[in-house]
Amino acid sequence: MRLLTSSVLAAALLALAPAARAGAARLAPLPRAEAVVVHGPYEQGACDACHARGDPRDPGPAKAGKETCLACHDEFGGTAPVRIGKGRSHPIKGECVGCHNPHNSRKRKLLL
Ligand code: HEC
Ligand code: HEC
Ligand code: HEC
Repeated sequence: MRLLTSSVLAAALLALAPAARAGAARLAPLPRAEAVVVHGPYEQGACDACHARGDPRDPGPAKAGKETCLACHDEFGGTAPVRIGKGRSHPIKGECVGCHNPHNSRKRKLLL
């Protein structure tokens, strides 16, 4: 029984792997010429603000969770809507990288 459970689990994980990779590709940096907005830490080569290493040629895995972003954007960590302009407030639910590319973007505000 135990063996069966773990092999089913392994199969499920394998099935998920391509989706996880597609997710990372969606968040990958765009070629410079395509981007209209560039995120400060990416521009400055501070890969290690989010990745395991600071080497731009091999930064290693990144932490995609909210905490990574909140280290610098703590104003978005609360439960109350954040005003970001006249009559506009920022969404409070969801993962930051569900809507923003952490590197650069073709759209304003690093939107995906
Ligand atoms: C603000 C946070 C942040 C910074 C700064 C940042 N990254 Fe990332 N990066 C991420 C996240 C989050 C992902 C997606 C990771 C995932 O989903 O597995 C990612 C993914 C990537 C990928 C795609 C990886 C893949 O498996 O396809 C590349 C390439 C990359 N980053 C390069 C860089 C380089 C080079 C720098 C520094 C010049 C950098 N990043 C700086 C957050 C960041
Ligand atoms: C090391 C500090 C640092 C971290 C970590 C960081 N940011 Fe930022 N972020 C900045 C700074 C500085 C700016 C303002 C300069 C700029 O626009 O790039 C900024 C600006 C932004 C903007 C506004 C861009 C615009 O065009 O006005 C967005 C959106 C954003 N960050 C999203 C994120 C997300 C999502 C993450 C996590 C994956 C993240 N940031 C992590 C430092 C950081
Ligand atoms: C549901 C989508 C969504 C999620 C999730 C999200 N954002 Fe945003 N964010 C936006 C949109 C849309 C804008 C641009 C709003 C506008 O300017 O009208 C924005 C704007 C911003 C800005 C620029 C604010 C300014 O003053 O112009 C920053 C910084 C930012 N987001 C950071 C984050 C961080 C950090 C997280 C996670 C804690 C996050 N966002 C999660 C959609 C999202």
